[in-house]
Amino acid sequence: MIRSNVNNGQNDIEFKADLTLRRLQPRLEEVWRDTQITDAKRRGFDARLQQHWRPLFSLLFELYGSRYDFFYHVEQVLLTAARAWADRSDELCKIDHHRLNEPDWFQSEKIVGGALYVDLFSENLSKMRDHVGYFKKLGLTYLHLMPLFAVRPGDSDGGYAISNYRSIDPQLGTVEDLRALSRALRDAGIVLVLDFVINHTADDHEWAQLAQAGKREYQEFYYIFPDRTFPEQYERTLREIFPRVRRGNFTWHDGMEKWVWTTFNNFQWDLNYSNPAVFRAMLDEMFFIANTGVDILRLDAVAFVWKKMGTSCENLPEAHTLIQAFNRMVRIAAPGVLFKSEAIVHPDEIIKYISPYECQISYNPTLMALLWESLATRKVSLLVQTLRHRFRLPKNTAWVNYLRCHDDIGWTFDDGDAQAIGVNPYDHRQFLNDFYSGQFPGSFARGVPFQENVDTGDMRISGTMASLAGLEQAVEEEDEMKKEMAIRRMLLLHGVTLSIGGIPLLYVGEEWGELNDYDFVKDPAKAGDTRWIHRPKMKWEYLDELDSRIDSGNCSIRTRIFRSIQKLIALRKEVPALAGQDMELISTQNEHVLGYMRIRNGHRLIVLANFSDTPQIIAGNKLRTTGLGRFFHDLIQGRTYPTSDMLTLDPYQIVWLERA
Ligand code: GLC
Ligand code: GLC
Repeated sequence: MIRSNVNNGQNDIEFKADLTLRRLQPRLEEVWRDTQITDAKRRGFDARLQQHWRPLFSLLFELYGSRYDFFYHVEQVLLTAARAWADRSDELCKIDHHRLNEPDWFQSEKIVGGALYVDLFSENLSKMRDHVGYFKKLGLTYLHLMPLFAVRPGDSDGGYAISNYRSIDPQLGTVEDLRALSRALRDAGIVLVLDFVINHTADDHEWAQLAQAGKREYQEFYYIFPDRTFPEQYERTLREIFPRVRRGNFTWHDGMEKWVWTTFNNFQWDLNYSNPAVFRAMLDEMFFIANTGVDILRLDAVAFVWKKMGTSCENLPEAHTLIQAFNRMVRIAAPGVLFKSEAIVHPDEIIKYISPYECQISYNPTLMALLWESLATRKVSLLVQTLRHRFRLPKNTAWVNYLRCHDDIGWTFDDGDAQAIGVNPYDHRQFLNDFYSGQFPGSFARGVPFQENVDTGDMRISGTMASLAGLEQAVEEEDEMKKEMAIRRMLLLHGVTLSIGGIPLLYVGEEWGELNDYDFVKDPAKAGDTRWIHRPKMKWEYLDELDSRIDSGNCSIRTRIFRSIQKLIALRKEVPALAGQDMELISTQNEHVLGYMRIRNGHRLIVLANFSDTPQIIAGNKLRTTGLGRFFHDLIQGRTYPTSDMLTLDPYQIVWLERA
């Protein structure tokens, strides 16, 4: 075992890092010889290796330094990175080069995201290419395709149970189709985002099959136990993520006659990253995916990747060390690629994943949940209390701001933030669940429960944006006023995510006000998972409607929603103040109105958003002093407001104000 010199820790690890690299140099030379890469390409790798090697080595040493075969694994890891770089196409290397010179490229106001399922949107990957025009029409420049790799038969958790990271689900196409799509998107100025499902494989992945065949080397790829002793000890401190799937976190496997750690579904086997062979193997898979032409890797369920007895096994310090090690590998061998963290956890924990050397971008589930919270309460107090100390991020990182996605909504705000404004967090979550499942008297929402836990009373909410915002109810009741309010609620929320700072991410379908799809229960592979209620198929006939209504002026609800969102997106892209992450809250002195200012390179934009269903008033003088002007122009409605008067916002109105 290697021991650090206690008197000279940092220096010592650097010495060991340098020595190790010198020892590995001949092996690296072999890779360069075998792959015959050009000197110039090799120099790029060498320069980045010099820059990142010491921190990388010390991360690996932290995780695996006590292993008897540490040196072997370090060697394998380095060779994996070298081969990946050698494999990387010239086109991708060119993009790497640009991004190294422009590390904040993803902060641009021109970046607007969309997420979708390939099969539900366009059947398969090759047909996706025909729809690039649709993304351009809508204004998207970032596209997250839900997992499209080979999956187990039957229930695959919407693609999140992967049986092979190197082949595409045959129903969706081939790896060649993926490469072709990524090129087509690149030509259209759209970045491609794919999942790196890092926490688990499907139970029929080759490694899992070898484990089932009794191969010990592969059983060590997972957490497999002969009896309940360890599972029970772990269980004492674990949450249950899918309590309706089974109680606890372990699944009995008949063939092996052993227990397997399965945080999510029974067929999703958690990988054992305390084994460096797993790190190495997944690194290889990650580079394969990156080299198909992916710009951003979404690290799925990232909070769960490290386990330690006696802890919640979520957000452990080693999980961060591990992601940082993956990050350094990418900095070396695919440097244009970013990580997006999917950590749907407590806000104190979410932030810890965000750094240029961990995940450069992250979902913002706190903002998401609190926007819905504000709609339900018609007050922005908890949102403001939270944003005040939780929105700021390190330089060269960004939030991904979304309203709905393929998953459920959980009320992941901080209890302390709630208590600070006199709200009881437990009761409030109950209220929100009641409200969004439509139980609360007067609620406009039509969500459904997800993974209700009978012991803890915990539950999350499924439902499309439109159904949660009141459109489903309004349409059923044929109530014009309610329809109007529902549409305004949706546009209000979009107006915030498109302007508050970071990458806005649309869940494709939202732009049409898609309602819940109750038919999912007909498919036995989906019936048990209510998230399918908000995963409807794209209805292309909506587009015909869009075109045929242009002249008649007779706008359907769908057309109105589409056009409004399209317009908001186009507007955002024309406002330089909306680039980057800096956001300053404005105290509106009105508990229903959220106010903030965006400043960037001398440009300013003031946003005011009324979360109530009644008109609200703001002092014009407030605007004058914050925005430094006597007149302000609302980019959304095209109206000008003098600051000498009070400013009145209509129910659910949002304004984007520039100095006139
Ligand atoms: C992520 C995905 C979710 C999936 C889970 C397990 O949270 O977003 O859909 O069920 O991981 O892979
Ligand atoms: C939990 C997990 C999150 C996952 C979700 C799926 O919230 O933290 O990663 O997306 O469950 O429902």
